[in-house]
Amino acid sequence: SEGGPLYDRIGPAALAALVRAFYARVAADPDLAPIFPDDLTVTAEKQLAFLTGFTGGPPLYHQRFGHPRLRARHLPHEITPTRARAWLACMAAALEATPQIAPPEARELYAALERVAAHMVNTPDTP
Ligand code: HEM
Repeated sequence: SEGGPLYDRIGPAALAALVRAFYARVAADPDLAPIFPDDLTVTAEKQLAFLTGFTGGPPLYHQRFGHPRLRARHLPHEITPTRARAWLACMAAALEATPQIAPPEARELYAALERVAAHMVNTPDTP
């Protein structure tokens, strides 16, 4: 990483814009929409709180909801390799649609999320 926490280089407004752009794509994605709630308001709030701490900002998710235990929290959902790819594709598109986040920060955040997404896979694709 170049020049301190990602959060300081991205800023809260751009991070919130990213989360909005991301869930707009999730809601429209045929692989992802079926496993998410119809109303993504609370999901998006939790994700913004999580990403704030994840990028080195205030630990809002921990403060509001406790330890993230992300893999455990995802176990009730069938996270297949296909869905992980769809999640990452939504994130890549959301980053491109959020010009407030410059390419170096976008690349760094995406690379970090790629690692987390791989860790969330808990179900094989059905052949
Ligand atoms: C919650 C799917 C990856 C962070 C959820 C929920 C689903 C889901 C279905 C529940 C939504 C709800 O009921 O509100 C997926 C899929 C992924 C993925 C298909 C593909 C790999 C990730 C990654 C992160 C993440 C990489 C980290 C940035 C979260 C958070 C929540 C959540 C913070 C809210 C947990 C809570 O209920 O407190 N995800 N997720 N997810 N996901 Fe993911």
